[in-house]
This record gives sequence, structure tokens and C-alpha cells, in this order.
Amino acid sequence: MGKSGKSGTRTIFICQHCGKESLKWLGRCPNCHEWNSFVETKVPATTPSDISTLENPPQELSQVVTAVSDRLPLPLAEFNRVLGGGLVSGSLVLISGDPGIGKSTLLLQVSALVAQAGGKVIYVSGEETLPQIRLRAERLGITGERLYLLAETDLHVILSHLERLAPSLVVIDSIQAVYLPELDTAAGSITQVRECTLRLMHWAKLRAVPTFIAGHVTKDGAIAGPRVLEHIVDVVLYLEGEPFSAYRLLRGVKNRFGSTNEVGVFEMKEQGLIEVDNPSKAFLSQRWGEAIGSTVVPTLEGTRPLLVEIQALTTPTAFGLPRRTANGVDFGRLLLITAVLTKRVGLKLGNQDIIANVTGGLRIGEPAADLGIALSIASSFRDVAVDPSLVAVGEVGLSGELRAVSQLDRRVAEAARLGFNRCLVPKTSARISAPKNIKPIPVSTLREAIRVGLVRGHGNV
Ligand SMILES: Nc1ncnc2c1ncn2[C@@H]1O[C@H](COP(=O)(O)OP(=O)(O)OP(=O)(O)O)[C@@H](O)[C@H]1O
Ligand SMILES: [Mg+2]
Ligand SMILES: [Zn+2]
Repeated sequence: MGKSGKSGTRTIFICQHCGKESLKWLGRCPNCHEWNSFVETKVPATTPSDISTLENPPQELSQVVTAVSDRLPLPLAEFNRVLGGGLVSGSLVLISGDPGIGKSTLLLQVSALVAQAGGKVIYVSGEETLPQIRLRAERLGITGERLYLLAETDLHVILSHLERLAPSLVVIDSIQAVYLPELDTAAGSITQVRECTLRLMHWAKLRAVPTFIAGHVTKDGAIAGPRVLEHIVDVVLYLEGEPFSAYRLLRGVKNRFGSTNEVGVFEMKEQGLIEVDNPSKAFLSQRWGEAIGSTVVPTLEGTRPLLVEIQALTTPTAFGLPRRTANGVDFGRLLLITAVLTKRVGLKLGNQDIIANVTGGLRIGEPAADLGIALSIASSFRDVAVDPSLVAVGEVGLSGELRAVSQLDRRVAEAARLGFNRCLVPKTSARISAPKNIKPIPVSTLREAIRVGLVRGHGNV
């Protein structure tokens, strides 16, 4: 083993917001444009080298084995989908999410599946004691042959255990809890998190072992304060969901081995995270007949069409300025749609409070949901139901026009599969091939869409 130059440290400056490094202090970050975000940080003078880097000499391109073909699919289809097919050897995967959302649960389940398939797994917990994990495992029905638990936070100790155990899967729960004693900052600080992640990455690549790390999201949506981790790791997955809802979405945000924006849908139950086979059906299960202020929208999560219900409620403003509340839909889009409804359709929403809500605790980012939001608002405001056999999709433009959305075919097909037989679509969309049992209804403006979409005989706009 070559001597690893652990002797010194060097000083660099790291943006606390985005993780950009610089050799000198900068007043403003050239990457994320934050002011005064650079903090002087001592890092080890050499690259991570607990294990000699000489074990990893340069290779001729033609001799390089393509690691990506080396995937281990797990008997958890929703998880494979997000990973791009299965576990990739040597990949470092970050699973992040709000506290209590289910990261440890998911990671313990995945560990058990790999152990059941015959692999040796080490689950390192820096946050919970072994009895606590055992208790969770019992609840999840995990017995735990070949599944090794380690309650440890010193990364040197952890790495030496990894070397000795030679596992086929490593889980670090969480990255904020582990630390390197030679760095004089606390666990969870940007320096620690960054350096620990780099070393785990190094180890994972050297030993070709898939490694998962759990990370908490802080209030402003960043992991460990800064986004440092996301640059380093191979795959970033977000576990999302609202506390009041049992549904959990596992969303791919970055993936060096597959497509991003894939989504896996789970339900949090006593026995852990259970795959949801038919998410559209699950999300609509609470819906009852001819509801006022409710529209079903075929959204797209990655390549996957998903039917969701968007509800709106308008009530006269009691005093002061009218309030807008967006749960699961983009606040900016809600304001835009409200303005267009007022100005182009003539709905007097200026003295109305408006709440828009996506059921099931889902969050929809795409403008394709605009029309659904607008229909629900119009329906509530006029106290007229939206046609219950109808779904609606389209982006709303500033002059009240409806704009084309991507992958309309898949959306319409999903609506047909769940028994809807009419679909409002923007007229500007390319011709679509719809299944026989559903009729696409092209509309060019929001005004027209409201006339068609609200239940006939009442909806005179
Ligand atoms: N008996 C139970 N039945 C059903 N769900 C439970 C039960 N006990 C715990 N849970 C769920 O599991 C969640 C905790 O999951 P988990 O510990 O995996 O989350 P985490 O993301 O790792 O949290 P942390 O940020 O604290 O590490 C709880 O919020 C709760 O919803
Ligand atoms: Mg946890
Ligand atoms: Zn920055």
C-alpha cells in the first residue's frame, strides 16, 4: 500500500448554497448567484485514499467492462423502474426526502430483498440503535439472514468494516450522521457531508458495490443545506408525499445510468412501503360521482401517465385581499389561471378566495394540468359539476388559448383504460390516435372548454 498523504489539509472555499468550489473567496457565486455564500473550508490535502488508489490503474477503453449491463433487478418493480432497471454495481445512490417520509423503511426493505436474493448486505445506521432497527424489521416482516447491521458514525470505522465484510450492497443511513474525525467540523456540516460522500463514492467504485445513502432535505428543499451531494453521486432519488397521505412517490432526479423523471408509486402501510400497481385507480378511488369543483387530469410523471383529481373551492373573500392557496399545484400557475379566467372568460374572481388541491398528496409541476385547474375553479364558482365521464388536459396561455401538451396519446389511453369516455384536448395538438371507447374533444380556448366541460344544461358561459 502506498502511503496515503494524510499529513496536511488545504484550504478551499465552498459555496454553502450550491457546493461550488473556488480557490479564493468570492463575494458572489458564479454558479448559483448567491451573495456571500463562500465559506473557507479545510479539506484533506489529498484525494480520498483510505485504500491505495494504485489498485485502480488506467485501463484501455476497449478493455473497459460496461458496468451498466451489470444490473441486479429487485423484486420491487416500482423501485427498479426509478433506478432504470435495477441496482448498478458500484453506483452511489442518494435517497433523500423529508424527515419521517420513509427513507429508512425503504432502504431496509431493499436491503432485505438483496439479502433474500443471496447477497450480503450491510446497513449502517448513524441515527437509530440496533434494537430500534430490529423492531422496524419485525414490523416489516424481515428476518435478516445475510443482513448485517452496524450502528456507527465514524467513517473510517465504517469503511474498515466494509472492507472486512465485502458486502454486495451498502446502505448508509444517513449521510448527515457520519463524519471524519480529522475534519474539525461537526457531522452534517457541508465539509463533512461532502468529504464523506466522496470517500463512499471512491469505495463504491473501487469495490464495484452498489451503495445507498439516505439524506435529509432541509426546509428550503436542499439536501444537507447545500446541493453538494447531488453533484457527486450517480443517482438522486426523492421520496415524496404529504404527511396526511399514505402515498409515497419515489422520483428520479438524476441518473447516470438511466432516464430521470421516472416515478415509482408506493403506499405506506404497517408492513412498510407497498407497491401500487394501478396508481391512477388508487388516486381516483376517493372520487364520488358528479362532484362540483373537481376535474380528472391525465398528467405525466416521466413517461408514465397518471390520472389525478384536481379540486378547487371558491368562496367570497371575508375581508381584505382575496387569498389563493395551492396544494400540490404550482402557485404561479394558479395565479396565472385565475387571471386568465377573470380577464378572458369573465369570471369575477377578484373577490373570491381560491383553494386548489391535488388529491392523494401528489404534486403536479407540468402546465398540462392548467385546464384541469381552470375547469375546477369555474365549476366551483358557478356551482355546476364537471362532466364526471370527462378528463381534461391542456396548457392555458395568457390570452385564454389552449396550448398543446406532450405525449397526448398516452394520456388519453390511460383515461380510456380507467373508463373515462371524453377527453378535452387542445385543438392545436397533433392528431391523436385514441382508443375506441374514448372521444377526444378538441377545444381552442378556455371559454370553449368550460362550455363543453361543465355538465350540460347548466353551464352557460
Ligand atoms: N406501525 C406503523 N404503521 C404504519 N406506518 C408506520 C408505523 N410506524 C411508523 N410508520 C411510518 O413510518 C414513518 C417513518 O419512516 P422512516 O423512519 O423510514 O422515515 P425516515 O424518512 O427514515 O425518517 P427520518 O428522517 O426520521 O430518518 C413514519 O412517519 C410513519 O408514517
Ligand atoms: Mg430514517
Ligand atoms: Zn453557489
